[in-house]
Amino acid sequence: MIILWVSLFTYLVSAIWPVPKEYKHGDTVLWISKDTSFDWAGAGDVGTLKFQSGYEYGFRMHSNTQPIVQDEQSRRRVKRTGEAPTGDEIIDNAIYATKQTIFKKNFVPWKFHPRNWTEPNAQNSTYISTVKIEVLQDDPQDIAKPLAGTIDESYALELTEGGNVSITANSSVGIVRGLVSFTQLFYEHSEGGAYTPLAPVTIFDVPVFQHRGINLDVSRNFFSVKDIERTIDAAAYNKMNRFHLHVTDAQSWPLEIPALPELSAKGAYRPELVYTAEDFANLQYYASMQGVELITEIDMPGHTSSIALSHPELIAAYNVQPDWNTYCAEPPCGTLKLNSSNVDDFLKKLFDDLLPRVLPFSSYFHTGGDEVNKNAYLKDDTVNSNDSATLQPLMQKFIDRNHDQIRAAGLTPVVWEEMLLDWNLTLGSDVLVQSWQSDEAVAQIAAKGHKVLAGNYNYWYLDCGKGQWLNFDPSVSGQNWPYEDYCAPFHNWRLVYSYDPLSGVPAEHQNLVIGGEAHMWAEQTDPMNVDRMIWPRGSAAAEILWSGAKDADGKNRSQIDAAPRLSEMRERLVARGIGAEPIQMPYCTMEGNVCQLGYHP
Ligand SMILES: *[C@@H]1O[C@H](CO)[C@@H](O)[C@H](O)[C@H]1NC(C)=O
Ligand SMILES: *[C@@H]1O[C@H](CO)[C@@H](O)[C@H](O)[C@H]1NC(C)=O
Ligand SMILES: *[C@@H]1O[C@H](CO)[C@@H](O)[C@H](O)[C@H]1NC(C)=O
Ligand SMILES: *[C@@H]1O[C@H](CO)[C@@H](O)[C@H](O)[C@H]1NC(C)=O
Ligand SMILES: *[C@@H]1O[C@H](CO)[C@@H](O)[C@H](O)[C@H]1NC(C)=O
Ligand SMILES: *[C@@H]1O[C@H](CO)[C@@H](O)[C@H](O)[C@H]1NC(C)=O
Ligand SMILES: *[C@@H]1O[C@H](CO)[C@@H](O)[C@H](O)[C@H]1NC(C)=O
Ligand SMILES: *[C@@H]1O[C@H](CO)[C@@H](O)[C@H](O)[C@H]1NC(C)=O
Repeated sequence: MIILWVSLFTYLVSAIWPVPKEYKHGDTVLWISKDTSFDWAGAGDVGTLKFQSGYEYGFRMHSNTQPIVQDEQSRRRVKRTGEAPTGDEIIDNAIYATKQTIFKKNFVPWKFHPRNWTEPNAQNSTYISTVKIEVLQDDPQDIAKPLAGTIDESYALELTEGGNVSITANSSVGIVRGLVSFTQLFYEHSEGGAYTPLAPVTIFDVPVFQHRGINLDVSRNFFSVKDIERTIDAAAYNKMNRFHLHVTDAQSWPLEIPALPELSAKGAYRPELVYTAEDFANLQYYASMQGVELITEIDMPGHTSSIALSHPELIAAYNVQPDWNTYCAEPPCGTLKLNSSNVDDFLKKLFDDLLPRVLPFSSYFHTGGDEVNKNAYLKDDTVNSNDSATLQPLMQKFIDRNHDQIRAAGLTPVVWEEMLLDWNLTLGSDVLVQSWQSDEAVAQIAAKGHKVLAGNYNYWYLDCGKGQWLNFDPSVSGQNWPYEDYCAPFHNWRLVYSYDPLSGVPAEHQNLVIGGEAHMWAEQTDPMNVDRMIWPRGSAAAEILWSGAKDADGKNRSQIDAAPRLSEMRERLVARGIGAEPIQMPYCTMEGNVCQLGYHP
């Protein structure tokens, strides 16, 4: 038996993405059968009994022997509006998904071996006997909708040369993460079946950051429920635990609000391009089933022009043309009026409808607050001013009203950084502040004592570098050539991977940086390209968030180590039906470390 520490330059990269904290493996081949049983016991059933002594009397044993089925989507889209899954259901689903992944969504890893590679011989093979799963502690109440830091996602995985597997974790979600790693040990055999060439395996793993997310803008372009679910699947497969749904913006309002049905009836691009209340509940449920908390954002007071399509009296500076750029960042302009009791009444009604439907699935509600253009209030008949001294107290009242209602509904507010850093608002100490503009902003937010999400647009805006979506009149075309967007160039995976959320944050405040998100703004992204726009670059962000930007020696993570693993992760995403882009040629992963510069062993 050979034990290799994760070796950087073996042909077979034995990828687990994101890279675990501790990972040892050998090179013995073990097979796994569709009949392999996954047995599990939860601490919730046993009180103080010790697991170390085995499955004593009193354990409720579960055995998941559900068959592999074709229609996984329909199975997982459980119609149970308004109720989050339990830890038991989360594990049951994860076991099911594990079998689907290993036996139905796997791949033959020829790209990771030299041309003359032969697959392991299936004769005389040893099979994995059982997979034992143990949850060591009671799940907290909010297992499906945690506040950052309340769930221990660590897991330990042991796979012996004799074929015994044990996965332990302190929470059901930890088991989900462990099972994802388990699937990544296995490959498809071209003659059928699945095997791991890596036995024995020992993993102990724990994330560096508590909040690891993807933000998808579903207002600039519409994405079907299936598209969003596929993106959640991919995020979960990267051990991300947050899915931020930027669900409304200036261009469309696709979210049905039953108390205000006109919002989506008139504000969606088409009346049928709407997330119904049932769709919304199912999406939140679908995410929480995979240990992913869906965080809903209704961006305000800017980015709300689509409200004007049903409530013109609430919106100032609506669709100012042609000089829109004096009044907003992007057409159509429009902002909620800032000194209007009608706006207050509207928001109260909106929140009264929406927040109770968020509460079962999330501890957060995001009220946005980015890119508010003060000049829009020159056209606000309740204010008629762009003077900060006039606007600032009104904005404070606006946010206080909103946040009071969010707290009263049992949720924690999230805002974009401008509310704190540009508007100088006094925010409750509970408010989570999402940064996007700079490393300095992350540091400033933390210095003010707020928990902060990183996601500097120079690294983690996945829309950047596609070029402008605006058209230029011939009179100004020349000066805008070659039509680059504001955040060009394209953020290739190496750039995404080079971002450290802690960069520039003094050591004493780093504990307030609870994680970050990679952002998919959708001006030029729709269901046709969303997979390749997010993946595998989102995976690069996911590894930084799970494993940290520095390796075990405290050095920046190496692209030479990451590239073959990310290539393998890309194959796994493709096998799962996600149209992730390749990051290099098969030649590079087949031949070992030849596609590099500057490495001298
Ligand atoms: C594959 O080719 C390499 C280089 O030519 C050689 O060293 C190796 O033994 C070959 N392996 C097999 C399994 O034929
Ligand atoms: C399988 O085992 C049998 C009996 O031990 C042996 O004769 C045969 O060579 C083995 N086959 C392979 C491919 O190892
Ligand atoms: C579970 O919790 C214990 C004690 O709190 C800790 O030592 C361990 O690392 C955690 N994770 C796992 C997988 O056991
Ligand atoms: C492996 O599993 C088998 C059957 O589940 C059991 O009989 C055996 O004791 C286990 N071996 C070890 C080393 O745990
Ligand atoms: C806000 O509106 C009230 C009346 O509704 C008005 O008295 C007050 O002057 C307005 N404030 C500003 C800054 O315009
Ligand atoms: C505020 O509005 C005035 C016009 O009323 C304009 O001249 C000025 O530039 C605006 N201030 C800012 C900061 O845009
Ligand atoms: C916030 O404070 C900064 C620095 O003191 C100042 O430049 C800015 O105008 C203030 N913003 C508002 C809206 O008052
Ligand atoms: C490590 O990465 C940081 C960015 O997070 C960068 O500023 C620094 O120069 C890198 N260090 C080395 C040695 O490349």
